[in-house]
Amino acid sequence: MTKYNISLIPGDGIGPELMKSAKMLLEYMNDKTSVKFNLTEVDAGDYALAKFGKALPDFTLDAIKKSDACLKAPVGESAADVIIVLRRLFDLYANIRPAKSFPNIKSIAENVDLVTVRENTEDVYLGWEFYANTDTVVALRVISEKASRRIAEYAFKTAVMRGKKKKVVSVHKANVLRKSDGLFKNICREVSTKFPQIEYSELYVDACAMNLIRNPESFDVIVTTNLFGDILSDEAAQVVGGLGMGPAGNIGQNFSLFEPVHGAAFDIAGKNIANPSSIFLSIKMMFEWIAEKFRDPLLFTEAIRIETAITSLLKQNYKTIDIGGKLSTSEFTRMLIDFL
Ligand code: NAI
Repeated sequence: MTKYNISLIPGDGIGPELMKSAKMLLEYMNDKTSVKFNLTEVDAGDYALAKFGKALPDFTLDAIKKSDACLKAPVGESAADVIIVLRRLFDLYANIRPAKSFPNIKSIAENVDLVTVRENTEDVYLGWEFYANTDTVVALRVISEKASRRIAEYAFKTAVMRGKKKKVVSVHKANVLRKSDGLFKNICREVSTKFPQIEYSELYVDACAMNLIRNPESFDVIVTTNLFGDILSDEAAQVVGGLGMGPAGNIGQNFSLFEPVHGAAFDIAGKNIANPSSIFLSIKMMFEWIAEKFRDPLLFTEAIRIETAITSLLKQNYKTIDIGGKLSTSEFTRMLIDFL
């Protein structure tokens, strides 16, 4: 039986509360199921910056490198020095953000099942900003053929694997950003010809933002550049009930990192009211990735069990406060583990 090494970043704000819930779920798996993990907690974020002078200390990086996958709770103001650096260092080129309707959650649509496939390594997130003169800042937006091609291919393969509506829409602003988004759009078009079984379309990012509210059920796979994907995936999470239900996977060739879509939510930190579903669903995505990479179907089974448990609890109206319920973080966590 393989024991997988998982590095854990507890992060800042609500991060440590969510990580406590995540560890309870992973420890339950260790104790009561056939899937086994070595769990290593590592320091990163505002807390690490204050304590060690670096938001991502070298010993943290070494520990992450030794793990099979990383589970990260949100970090705070140092997010750019943690997650964006990790994405680039490990070449985690695809940011996968599903938004799916769950029962009994007040939302603007009921049958949403879409995924945003966001390019994760370039665009303005390279952080190449400089002062052109004393009162003007220039930020560089980088879009390359290589990164556009591999994210487009990932998106089409995702549509095939999901086997649902079999649609990919590429989202861009090529009418204004003619060269950069023009390149992205052309590469998506080119890749689409290799997948005739998938319906391909294009949307300007502003129209996409509107259609996500007007007709979210029509979407299947959205492929887009880094900044647009960041914004649209938060919007999609809200469409199905809020950030507390939003998981994400940062996928690379050999290594991947899973985290909630949301940030450190300082406004509710320390109150035991954050919704832990975002990190539970991130664990579900991590299990699916490990299952595929290490050809271990047991993890697929456990991934399905996690999602089924969340769905069943919601059906019985067991919910945290953010989605209209009364349960605290720790109460919902306990109920999930009891259900499992
Ligand atoms: P945020 O995502 O932390 O919060 C936005 C709103 O959603 C808040 O009202 C918050 O209470 C609510 N919310 C978020 N997660 C929730 C959960 N699990 N349950 C219930 N309610 C939840 O966004 P904000 O306020 O813009 O950022 C706060 C900090 O997070 C910043 O310092 C930012 O840099 C950092 N951040 C870190 C990220 C990461 O680690 N990947 C990503 C985004 C932001």
